[in-house]
Amino acid sequence: MSPIDEPLANWWPLATSLQLGTRKPLARVLHGRPLVLFRAADGNPAALPDRCPHRLAPLSQGCVRDGNIECPYHGWRFDAAGHCTRAPGSLDCRSGTPLLQALQSCEAHGLVWVRSAGDAGSAPCGPTRTAGTLDLFWVHDQVRCSLQEAAENFLDAFHTHFVHAGWIRRDAQRQRVIAEVRALEDGVEARYSEEGKQAGLVSRLLEGSRGESFGRFRLPGLAEIEYRDRAGRLNLQISAWLVPAQHGQLQVIARVATRRGLLPGWFKRLALRPLFGVVLGQDKQILEALSSNHARFADSPADWGPTRPLDGRQDLLGPSIRQLLEQGRLGEFVASRQELEL
Ligand code: FES
Ligand SMILES: [Fe+2]
Repeated sequence: MSPIDEPLANWWPLATSLQLGTRKPLARVLHGRPLVLFRAADGNPAALPDRCPHRLAPLSQGCVRDGNIECPYHGWRFDAAGHCTRAPGSLDCRSGTPLLQALQSCEAHGLVWVRSAGDAGSAPCGPTRTAGTLDLFWVHDQVRCSLQEAAENFLDAFHTHFVHAGWIRRDAQRQRVIAEVRALEDGVEARYSEEGKQAGLVSRLLEGSRGESFGRFRLPGLAEIEYRDRAGRLNLQISAWLVPAQHGQLQVIARVATRRGLLPGWFKRLALRPLFGVVLGQDKQILEALSSNHARFADSPADWGPTRPLDGRQDLLGPSIRQLLEQGRLGEFVASRQELEL
């Protein structure tokens, strides 16, 4: 079965390593499966269905004791493999076979990842490597939309003049750019060159003159933006993992990386976090408007306006992202190079 038919065969990040402590479990939903995350006795992350087998209480409302998750209702405890290790009041409780089916879990790139047990092969999809030392911080959000809609939005440079007018770009101050699109081993990438001085507030604060920028999508759900200066050095990389929780609900975990420089990391975090909050809020508003518009048309006849997105020349990544998400790979892909007004 392909990873597209069985999405849990892929590694998905559900929290940062820092979010998952040793005492408090975390509740998450992945592709419609409610999960509880906790740290086992050896410090490794563990993931179980968030439902106690005894009376079906949510385990995530319990606590972690000696690396076991303890149910809040009658105190039954379960280890990382889903065995019952304690059933208070009963003298013989240790289950030989697991009572809960554990998922595989691991830690990589500062994140806690899970996938269905038994799957082997591909590694977690981490951020694209960059040279130099980076300052990092994380941003978390929930958005009511699909993975495809969020990935297209995040990597579509041509909405920024309207949705983020003045913050990222301005419609009245467009520049000629060369846009090249190429296939990646696990996705697709657009590269914009000759962008020069930027009109938006975020870019003016962060960058001098921009040499080139990149938008990438990689399976199963990483959308990445990268800005570089004229010497090819990284100014900013935002890696956003778009994690489907349940139908029409997305968990977003974004890593914001800047090149370590004169300004201290804490200062950049303090200054940039509110800016990203504004920009993310603007995207969230348009994405959720899109989702509710689907619902408004749910009972309309099929010929009442378009049902599939109409792609323009400037929709550089959208069609490939749809193909990757629907088919798990790029079909007949032709690399392209064109001049556009960004
Ligand atoms: S419901 Fe979990 S211990 Fe009873
Ligand atoms: Fe946006």
